[in-house]
Amino acid sequence: MQRSDLIQKYAAVRNVTHKICEPLQTEDYIVQPVPDVSPPKWHLAHTTWFFETMLLQKFSKQYTPHQSLYGYLFNSYYQSLGPRWDRQNRGTLSRPTVKEVFKYRSAIDERIAELVYEVPETDWDDFSSLMVLGLNHEQQHQELLVMDIKCILGLNPLYPSYLEQVQTANPALPVMEQKFIRFPGGLHEIGARGDGFYYDNEAPTHCVSVADFLLADRLVTNAEYLEFIEDGGYGEFRHWLADGWDFIQQNGISSPLFWRKVEGSWHEVTLSGLDKLIPENPVCHVSYYEADAFANWSGKRLPTEQEWEVAATTAGVDPSRGNFLDDNLLHPRSASAVAQDGLQPRQMLGDLWEWTGSAYLPYPGYRRQAGPLGEYNGKFMNNQMVLRGGCCATPRDHIRISYRNFFQPEKRWQFSGIRLADDPR
Ligand SMILES: [Fe+2]
Repeated sequence: MQRSDLIQKYAAVRNVTHKICEPLQTEDYIVQPVPDVSPPKWHLAHTTWFFETMLLQKFSKQYTPHQSLYGYLFNSYYQSLGPRWDRQNRGTLSRPTVKEVFKYRSAIDERIAELVYEVPETDWDDFSSLMVLGLNHEQQHQELLVMDIKCILGLNPLYPSYLEQVQTANPALPVMEQKFIRFPGGLHEIGARGDGFYYDNEAPTHCVSVADFLLADRLVTNAEYLEFIEDGGYGEFRHWLADGWDFIQQNGISSPLFWRKVEGSWHEVTLSGLDKLIPENPVCHVSYYEADAFANWSGKRLPTEQEWEVAATTAGVDPSRGNFLDDNLLHPRSASAVAQDGLQPRQMLGDLWEWTGSAYLPYPGYRRQAGPLGEYNGKFMNNQMVLRGGCCATPRDHIRISYRNFFQPEKRWQFSGIRLADDPR
């Protein structure tokens, strides 16, 4: 990539982060309502710390840190980069102020803009690939920012609005009947290929053997999930994994994270406040445990990540049609609102991350990189499940068919939904 193209891309990506924060009030930047949620101020500083640490400290001659303790405050989980402030206490810090964090961003942006033209040709490949990683890291945090803002506002009983109106369903369109598309089994190659950026956890490409399988042509809707609830789904241990059953008992869970019953009718917290639940929209903010229990109750199952990737590749799904951060809906659309070619499954890219039945494990031949970047993905490869496809808070140019997201099975503050799979009978 040319130097001018790289710095343009840098400015564009950094600017998206600022755009996401524009509707916030100063107080919204600071709070941490639950340990999983980081204050927006922390995201703004942490993504900046990443560029400062991985790029400026490595390539800039005689660089002195912007503030010597920011490394301690804004390092997320890199043990090789020293001690860190506790994640669960990120919301306890009133300083640095929001203003100071924005100044920190500007200062690092200025230094990066200079550095792009100072780096010698001999270091360019190394430098530019770290810059691209930093930009992808910032895009991951853009999605996290939206998730965290939704929790900060949505767990507040005033249900403040972030977006004027979340437009999600088109009542003129009929609810789409769920159909299952048959995909042929056999040996298939999966994993990231090509020259573009991908994370180390998407490689190496390798062959997998899958049997013939059926995949739903759309996501599970709120109406379908409501049937599960009304059928006593949360009260019947037979549908649940043992850990999932314990988790919902211990935490008093009986509906998706943002569902609220108001005067006898179901509502949903969205980024524009508390709205009536729209039955034809996809159910979202469910944990792996809930997705798996719903699939069991339906007499179906979740797809494996291999099946998901084979289906997406075979069908030729394309991010240009998906509902992503760029569309600024920040909520999944109903399947009827999605354009479709022939028997292509809808909503596979964008709308919601889809839980798969696959544990997050290294692909055959995967090796962690040396140094701090070896901590980016590899050390999380246990006790988490893979999700595929991106969501309405993912930047469109950040997603790929081979992209592997991962969360612990009880987490549900991410935009996660359910697509069913089945075996031909
Ligand atoms: Fe990060």
